[in-house]
Amino acid sequence: MSADTTPGTADPALFDKVVNLCKRRGFVFPSAEIYGGFRSTYDYGPVGVLMLRNVKDAWWRSMVQLRHDVVGLDASILSPPQVWEASGHLSNFSDPLVDCKNCGARHRQDNLDDPDQCPTCGMSAQFTEPRQFNLMFKTQAGPVDGAGADAYLRPETAQGMFINFANVLNTSRKKPPFGIAQIGKSFRNEITPGNFVFRTREFEQMEMEFFVPPAEAQEWYEYWCNERLQWYIDHGIDPSLLMLRPHDADELSHYSSGTSDVEFMFPWGWGELEGIANRGDYDLKQHAEHSGNKLEFYDQAANERYVPHVIEPAAGATRTMMAFLMAAYDEEVVNDETRNVLRLHHRIAPYKVAVLPLSKKDELRGPAMDVYTMIAERYMADYDETQAIGKRYRRQDEVGTPYCVTFDFDSLEDNAVTIRERDSMEQVRLPISEVMAWLAERLT
Ligand code: GAP
Repeated sequence: MSADTTPGTADPALFDKVVNLCKRRGFVFPSAEIYGGFRSTYDYGPVGVLMLRNVKDAWWRSMVQLRHDVVGLDASILSPPQVWEASGHLSNFSDPLVDCKNCGARHRQDNLDDPDQCPTCGMSAQFTEPRQFNLMFKTQAGPVDGAGADAYLRPETAQGMFINFANVLNTSRKKPPFGIAQIGKSFRNEITPGNFVFRTREFEQMEMEFFVPPAEAQEWYEYWCNERLQWYIDHGIDPSLLMLRPHDADELSHYSSGTSDVEFMFPWGWGELEGIANRGDYDLKQHAEHSGNKLEFYDQAANERYVPHVIEPAAGATRTMMAFLMAAYDEEVVNDETRNVLRLHHRIAPYKVAVLPLSKKDELRGPAMDVYTMIAERYMADYDETQAIGKRYRRQDEVGTPYCVTFDFDSLEDNAVTIRERDSMEQVRLPISEVMAWLAERLT
């Protein structure tokens, strides 16, 4: 496995600011916090769950909804050892682990700056010999403690697509080139989780296996590298914070004949968001051999049978959400006060609109709530009547809400509201009857 961070132009202050914002505004909480926390697992709060869902929806929209050549799947998280024997995970999915004999800390050997010095206690020459540590979580399926069948929590969603290749082929009437896409949780017993939700033991992936005629593999590999890089740009990340990095030959996984990573400039330097791999026919052949089932495609027109090659764009949903937060965070001084704003793309922003009655008096509450209900039928919206209006704007800026709709006392007379745009802070007055059309033009 490759180390997926390298030193770069770091901005550690940004990291702390975003992590604090996540806790303060309800994006991400440390898991089991009231019991002191459970290191490396996180819970997604009221706005975090919306944002994470939007990341996944944006991926699904471009990878499945807008493509006639990709279908979806939701495979099980638990699977039997045979799957992982065939995939190579039981023998290969491990990292070299060393223990410090002085302080007991465990480290991934290939991630150490100095392979001889413990970063926890600073002592040199205290490491044990490295041993391979398999990253899969093993459990038992069945009611009797210790007597059930061995099972594994999947460390990637990919294998679900390979083992369902024939099912999907037979039911969807697709033929290569076509893809199977899936979003879901994966689990890895990472030796050194860290950097907030960048590397955790439980995380979400968004993966697609694209099955192609062998002769077209290189062409499709290049196609998906470009498509996937562009996806992050289209969803608001500045191109200067992104790069596509081809792997060196010694970094390639056992199955890959070519891999490129989409990397993002995190506060500590470049880090992987997604890998696009040319996996050849490795996976289908392995599962065919281990299961005894043919996993191939019969091309009627050419009267030819072949095992498709696979191009795999594999992204992390939770890690991508973190990158969107880092890229969008901004501070600016407005009227001698610092305004924190998340300049998120509207598809990624948790709320699209917030409805803010100027006062919480009953005479405004009823009609303002009607405006909220009208908008909430179509868009995820917030309703907030606490505090001064300026403070409420700032709260919405901090969670990235693109539009605030203010219902004031004049609204009772003119049936109009004021809409404030997050980035420019410009305001327009619009009849309530025109609000939905105005939003529809912008929230595409
Ligand atoms: N099927 C290929 C595969 O799983 P990977 O590079 O190991 O490839 C794909 O994982 C993506 O999943 C990564 O680029 C990253 O975004 C995300 N990911 C992997 N391990 C992760 C972890 N421990 N925590 C959070 N995200 C992770």
